[in-house]
Amino acid sequence: MSGAFYITTPIYYVNANPHLGHAYTTIVADCLARFHRALGEETFFLTGTDEHGDKIAEAAAKNGREPQQYADEVSATFRDLWPGLGITNDDFIRTTEDRHVRVVREILQKVYDSGDIYYGEYGGHYCTGCECFLTEKDLEDGLCPDHKTKPQYISEKNYFFRMSKYREWLIEHIEANPEFIRPERYRGEVLSLLRSSHLDDLCISRPKSRLSWGIELPFDSDYVCYVWFDALINYLSALDWPDGERFKNFWPAAQHLVAKDILKPHAVFWPTMLRAAGLPVYKHLNVHGYWLVKETKMSKSLGNVVRPLDMADRYGLDTFRFFLLREMRFGNDASFSEEALVSRRNADLANDLGNLFSRVLSMTKKYRGSVVPGAAVDEALRERAMEAVRNYVELFSRCRFAEALEALWELVRSLNKHIDETAPWVLHKEGRDKELDAVLYGVLECLRKVACCLHPVMPEAGAAMLTQLGQTVEGPRIDREMETFGRMEPGTEVAAKSNLFPRVELEAAEPGDSAKPAKPKDKKKGKGKAKEDAAAAESETAMVEFDDFAALDLRVGVVRAAEVHPKADRLLLLQVDLGEEDGPRQVVAGLAEHFAPDVLVGRAVTVVANLKPRKLRGQLSQGMVLTVGADGGLDLLGPSGEVPPGSKVS
Ligand code: ME8
Ligand code: MG
Repeated sequence: MSGAFYITTPIYYVNANPHLGHAYTTIVADCLARFHRALGEETFFLTGTDEHGDKIAEAAAKNGREPQQYADEVSATFRDLWPGLGITNDDFIRTTEDRHVRVVREILQKVYDSGDIYYGEYGGHYCTGCECFLTEKDLEDGLCPDHKTKPQYISEKNYFFRMSKYREWLIEHIEANPEFIRPERYRGEVLSLLRSSHLDDLCISRPKSRLSWGIELPFDSDYVCYVWFDALINYLSALDWPDGERFKNFWPAAQHLVAKDILKPHAVFWPTMLRAAGLPVYKHLNVHGYWLVKETKMSKSLGNVVRPLDMADRYGLDTFRFFLLREMRFGNDASFSEEALVSRRNADLANDLGNLFSRVLSMTKKYRGSVVPGAAVDEALRERAMEAVRNYVELFSRCRFAEALEALWELVRSLNKHIDETAPWVLHKEGRDKELDAVLYGVLECLRKVACCLHPVMPEAGAAMLTQLGQTVEGPRIDREMETFGRMEPGTEVAAKSNLFPRVELEAAEPGDSAKPAKPKDKKKGKGKAKEDAAAAESETAMVEFDDFAALDLRVGVVRAAEVHPKADRLLLLQVDLGEEDGPRQVVAGLAEHFAPDVLVGRAVTVVANLKPRKLRGQLSQGMVLTVGADGGLDLLGPSGEVPPGSKVS
């Protein structure tokens, strides 16, 4: 595949600091940019800040700053945030830059000369929050429905853009291009808006007597340009319109990314402005919903913001990026919570993907000395893998990120199942080498494909996976993975083990969250005193003295070998290294239903080391392995990092 790709985020207002909402749009744009680079396309990714208008002038005044100084400061906080979120934008545009001001004035002049801008009288309800005039119809109880504030009635002479003239054309364009605005629900919304009412002309000026923080109109120095007419043009000025190479290369491939709050300016103002200026319109407008916190929109004015860097620091940048794409069905609203983030991490990343990785690497080590075998792979598996990549590419290209990742996870889960069903440990035991090689090669090759696909979303983990698979990490390509199987070279050395996504715990209660269910202790009603006392005594016996606890010798050990108990297929015989002189000791554990023996080799476990030795179905067990119930299965309790065998738990 080749071609060009141009992706933009909204340019954010500099009246407040960035939060999760801005981070989401910018991370999505970044994932798309990296994805299209991985398809071999020439890609340009733009973000920036929107710095003119009443809103900014007011915020500056409130902070005791000149507008430009204030804009410089806040714009820098956006610009400086992005590298920490792995954002790879090619440019950062500010509407106060000369290169932008020049282009806005040129386009205004062009449209003015063509007769589509006229001078007239206008009265309306002006909302500073929206930066626009609202009609009587728009108001609810006399208030702006979005900002719940009373707009100011203003009557003045202004310049107007003849937007109404382009209504028919725009309806036809949207009808003829089903994916011009996507997903469908927003296309429908715009169409019904255009069809149901006549389209007003757009007031595009503000008298300087009222507001001077803006771009002066080239044809009347008493006025500045309306902030939306100014801001939208950033998408062109960053491409050096009209003569720049960038404009030639990238404008035909333009895609914008916005949330539904700014649907109308992007779906109605912008295409009609472009049309009036004699320019082709963008290819796609991709519209997403809101991130909500406890059912309400997160926004700076409501003060319920989630700070993106905190989340990335706490749970890892890759997990955060994965969560954002996987959790929100693009177009719909989604709720943000740390609980949801942690459960995605543990279910999708630790259990499904991480576990698969560590299983196949430890088996490759054990059976083939960590060298990729050559093998003829099962046709069904090859087809399934290529099909998964094709689905992924198709869905991802259309901004259906949750479905795209789900398509990839179907493959991941099927690979875990493939291992369970083919039971490589049995193939090994029975000397069925060709079959064993086919399973190992097949799964390793599929994982290499998965790593290439995931790299745009999780750049660090993607690189780590590729490294562990003995692959070069620079610029992994996805386009080549749709129709081929077998780029993994036999003879490649792979890592001996892997721990990509250790399970994580919820770090802290969310601020303001006192909703932890109180222990059901106060159900005393109707109980006699005796019963109450008995209950108290019972809960006392459930408590232990510190000394009782201290009597336990808990240690971290490493499983050196594991096999199924010869007489009980629910039990495993583990040889656990506790750093003792006379070598590992045997612990019998009821783990066979949850783990293939091979998977446990190399795993750190917590052992009750001073449990009285006893025999279980004829096998000596010296200790007990601690486990924890997880997602209906069982997991092992161990340290989050490497510790020497025998380390004491206290
Ligand atoms: O509107 N959920 O800037 P802005 C999801 N300057 N996305 C959210 C969000 C939330 N709760 N809150 C904000 C402007 N966003 C104009 C744009 S473009 C020519 C001019 C994101 O600072 C989302 O992308 O209000 C939304 O469209 C954008 O921030 C609004 O940013
Ligand atoms: Mg806004």
